[in-house]
Amino acid sequence: TQQAAGPRPAVLVARRIFAETVERLRAHFDVETNDADEEWSQEELIRRLQGKDGALLTGTQRVDAALLEACPRLRIVANMTVGYNNFDVAALDAAGVVGTNAPDVLTETTADFGFALLLAAARRLTESERFLRAGQWRRWSVDLFAGAEVHGTTLGILGMGRIGQAIARRGAHGFGMRVLYHNRRRLDAATEAACRATWVDKDTLLRESDHLVLVLPYTPENHHIIGAAELARMKPTAVLVNLARGGIVDDAALAEALRQRRIAAAGLDVFEGEPRVHPGLLEVPNVVLTPHIASATVPTRRAMADLAADNLIAFLTQGRALTPVNQ
Ligand code: DGY
Repeated sequence: TQQAAGPRPAVLVARRIFAETVERLRAHFDVETNDADEEWSQEELIRRLQGKDGALLTGTQRVDAALLEACPRLRIVANMTVGYNNFDVAALDAAGVVGTNAPDVLTETTADFGFALLLAAARRLTESERFLRAGQWRRWSVDLFAGAEVHGTTLGILGMGRIGQAIARRGAHGFGMRVLYHNRRRLDAATEAACRATWVDKDTLLRESDHLVLVLPYTPENHHIIGAAELARMKPTAVLVNLARGGIVDDAALAEALRQRRIAAAGLDVFEGEPRVHPGLLEVPNVVLTPHIASATVPTRRAMADLAADNLIAFLTQGRALTPVNQ
């Protein structure tokens, strides 16, 4: 299509993404990419953002007042992730810059992975595979890697947004689980009925869950919302799954609880200070660890990158972002 007269907007793609998505952006913009796939330092990011109208980010680069002040031409920052704890939203508002995230497109895929982690942790999948690969399997035995039951148990969900609801539906409809949830805002009755989920206070959720899945956004209030005190309130047979963000769980306290078997097992896709992983977690057998891949299927990662690109295109060519988180 014909471009409007005048210079084309300039866009930075701050990490390696799909070539097809970059091509779509190139149809509208002058595009600079980071093909090395290494995360730029904040200084380098600011340097590359000079003269750029928009940026496509992967949710790990910090966008704060200092960056915005140093990049006065910037009008939109588009995360290809649903989480946007890398944005200082107040600073975006103050600078008149739009932030966008990538909701919806990853909901079901991430919920699938939540169950993969839950099942793997409860049924000791990776622990038993390590045993087999190490040549230690001698015979069938009555309690060999006997784990926790999943079907028919109580599933707890902390944070009940789109992903929480998708996990609830899987638990209730697929595994016949009783679903409890805690969220600051209670869902309306129709949504609760569709998820077959019951709101409880946080303490009841901790005490009654056989499996507790964390799917809440990372905010200052949610920092270490699961720490030693909360872990102590859980059942000794419980399984904890963190699908949300590192920092929501106190990883040192969790490693200790797992070591002392104060809870049975955990499945973790996210870590405080990732890609570093607390050494205590690497030492205990009863935890399944994955490198932040809950949304990583080929179609979903494509859809996430495309939604970020669509946000840039819609905003910079028509003035309206599709999925803004502010303004
Ligand atoms: C998100 O979208 O926030 C995920 O954590 C990245 O896969």
